[in-house]
Amino acid sequence: MAGMRNIVLIGFMGAGKTEVGQRLSEVLRRPFVDTDKIVEEAAGATIETIFETLGEDKFRELETDAIKSLSHIRGEVIATGGGAIAREENAKMLKQDGFVVYLYARPEVLFQRIANGTGRPLADRMNGQADMEVLLMQRDPLYRQTADLIVDTSDQTADAVEHEIFRAIGY
Ligand code: S3P
Repeated sequence: MAGMRNIVLIGFMGAGKTEVGQRLSEVLRRPFVDTDKIVEEAAGATIETIFETLGEDKFRELETDAIKSLSHIRGEVIATGGGAIAREENAKMLKQDGFVVYLYARPEVLFQRIANGTGRPLADRMNGQADMEVLLMQRDPLYRQTADLIVDTSDQTADAVEHEIFRAIGY
């Protein structure tokens, strides 16, 4: 892997971006950043509250600002929100200095993982797995076209996922 490119994790809600990102950051001793956290800090509110009070469009603006604010960083591990690549400009910026990893999981696995979670306004609005699959089907091609590496996390532990990424970056 060339020099100090960032490692950028993309994928649907429940793909494990934050967990895998934190683990990579620890082992590789690189800083970990999460675009959702940057948005929350900038807004002084949780993602849930931002969606509720300012709406999704405003959240998307803040998300793009967060990604822009990372344009100068190198050698970090970046976890993104599940919708971050839906804007082409975001995908371009993330790819520019990043080795982009799509953490894929089968729909039923994702649904299980997000069903009991909290703090995800889009997931809270979904009425069952079929609803989730509509959004997933829109995004899956975008994840794939943005990714340098695709890892199927459906039946793998975080440890195994991490090792697949290490192999790909030559660590
Ligand atoms: C979103 C995913 C969330 C967060 C926001 C919107 C999405 O991040 O950015 O709730 O559009 O899929 P995670 O993928 O980390 O849950």
